[in-house]
Amino acid sequence: MDAIIFNQVKLTYTMKISKNMQNALNNQIILESNASNNYLAMASWCEITGYEGGSSFFYAQSNEERSHMIKIVHYLNNLGVPAVIPATKLPASSFKSLESILKIALNSEQTVTSAIHVMVEIAQKDKDYPTHAFLEWFVNEQVEEETKFETLIKKFELIGRDKIAINEIDKILAASVESSASNTK
Ligand code: FEO
Repeated sequence: MDAIIFNQVKLTYTMKISKNMQNALNNQIILESNASNNYLAMASWCEITGYEGGSSFFYAQSNEERSHMIKIVHYLNNLGVPAVIPATKLPASSFKSLESILKIALNSEQTVTSAIHVMVEIAQKDKDYPTHAFLEWFVNEQVEEETKFETLIKKFELIGRDKIAINEIDKILAASVESSASNTK
């Protein structure tokens, strides 16, 4: 048994995962929460800049990241280990271009991927098979996420960076939201 103080209440719980793994999962909650917030800021910037597709894309992306965060919150809580809900970090409020935010997003996804791989290594080292299985979904999700952003960034080389090209890319962003919404129906 172990004990922690949570909201002034002393909780005791059976340790099912190592402290190291708990810390890593709580850290992942912070990463997913920041990603959600950063994508929300990007969506808002797109909306006021007139990129309708970019705006829908990043609002949807922000919701996705929030759902990733909540998956981990439930996982920890269901193990009887209270998840730590982090304070939100102030995101950037203005961006250089649609291309630049897609590049920032790819960079952020790569950071998330590395953190997930570190957790997989911890789970392997701990012989924590349930957490290892839980993380498999995240490993696959990150492959999809990185591919999605890499493909979108390539559009600037393929279509161009003038106003007409950017408008086309904005439409591609809108279509990508519609297609992932129809895939989940
Ligand atoms: Fe949940 Fe895209 O990292």
